[in-house]
Amino acid sequence: MPLKLYTNYIEDFITENEILELQPEVNKAHEKLHNGTGEGSDYLGWIDLPEAYDKDEFEHIKVVAKKIREKAEILVVIGIGGSYLGARAAIEFVKSQNYNLLCKDTPKIIFSGNSISSTALSEVVDMVEGKDFAVNVISKSGTTTEPAISFRVFREMLISKYGKDGAAERIFVTTDKEKGTLKKLADSEGYETFVVPDNVGGRYSVLTAVGLLPIAVAGIDIDKLMQGARDARNAFKNSDIKSNDCYKYAAIRNVLARKGKTVEMMVSYEPSFAMMNEWFKQLYGESEGKNGKGIFPASAIFSTDLHSLGQYIQDGQRILFETVVIFKKPNKEHMIKMDPDDVDGLNFLAGKEMSYVNRKAFEGTALAHNDGGVPNIVLEAECMNEYELGYMIYFFEKACGISGYILGVNPFDQPGVESYKRNMFALLGKPGYENEREVLERRIRK
Ligand code: PA5
Repeated sequence: MPLKLYTNYIEDFITENEILELQPEVNKAHEKLHNGTGEGSDYLGWIDLPEAYDKDEFEHIKVVAKKIREKAEILVVIGIGGSYLGARAAIEFVKSQNYNLLCKDTPKIIFSGNSISSTALSEVVDMVEGKDFAVNVISKSGTTTEPAISFRVFREMLISKYGKDGAAERIFVTTDKEKGTLKKLADSEGYETFVVPDNVGGRYSVLTAVGLLPIAVAGIDIDKLMQGARDARNAFKNSDIKSNDCYKYAAIRNVLARKGKTVEMMVSYEPSFAMMNEWFKQLYGESEGKNGKGIFPASAIFSTDLHSLGQYIQDGQRILFETVVIFKKPNKEHMIKMDPDDVDGLNFLAGKEMSYVNRKAFEGTALAHNDGGVPNIVLEAECMNEYELGYMIYFFEKACGISGYILGVNPFDQPGVESYKRNMFALLGKPGYENEREVLERRIRK
């Protein structure tokens, strides 16, 4: 079994019976997902995606990824939120958080358009200056401000460097199949396009061209990734909590939340999991945080953050639970050597592998946090490869859908995201927002 759920570090806080009592609610959530009878049912395409993906486009992604690998030293991936986090998380998970420093036969991959920072944008401009680069701009709506600002800059750079036709060979657009300004521009300029399916929302889109193109450019085997997701889809098809770890995880989160544990910290002992934490936070935050409900998604990398957040986790407000993702094998092992002088007193570790030390750090921390009142859900995977990643992505997506319906929210919309945009556009003087502008400016002056 690729990803296994362990409950031994939650036993002091909830009983197996309390989890099983949620079976009727899990059944209802399962029916909503599988029969499309719940809110947000227009966005359930991700459920069958690992089987029912567009095979022609999938092959086309591989062809284009190869072309980009051959032509470009750098791929600039422009996108934000669901059009950014999955690809970056996958590349760092399978390759490394230091991918750009370590890659040899594949292009560097630099992410842009995920903020409105002029410093961040200018730094990427400096990095591609004088280099052969290509751009993959990703936006389902095709109208999002952050990537649009960034795309203006890199499109202009490509046109002035290679001319309009040369730029068209280096710009790849992932967007809606027919709507949006990006699609219109791509069609008029002859940019190659990839589709974000209508029925897959941004944060559930990593297994579409949104994630797959950059992931494939990084030299990651997307067939194995989809195989992992396919196996997870088959493993988590039935609604019985006893045999479905994905649904059990969703149930446990809700039982803990009802007992006042309303903050979930996603934790890993592997630094290359840091962007998976960010992907998880978007998936769960945007899916569950609405109507005054939701478990707040936080994250940490241990043991790093035990030296910063550790105090709070051990001893602060008792509202936390942790979900710890551990791996049986590290991607690279390191044996600790004997030091004849033993100046640091660490010779008792000589001959031990670092992964063993990391494991003991996890076990000791889980027990300490349990003593401090923090339940730990544990998810164990074999290693950090494509297959395990595909399996894990599907696990978290499905658990999110189930958990959101148990919470009583629509897990597939994000109405709250619009509020900041309205205010920002009004303050920037965008046509159509004149009325709001005056009111907002008065509030700012106060
Ligand atoms: O999950 C979501 O829907 C959002 O986070 C979007 O992915 C994000 O806002 C970017 O939207 P778009 O792809 O339309 O540019």
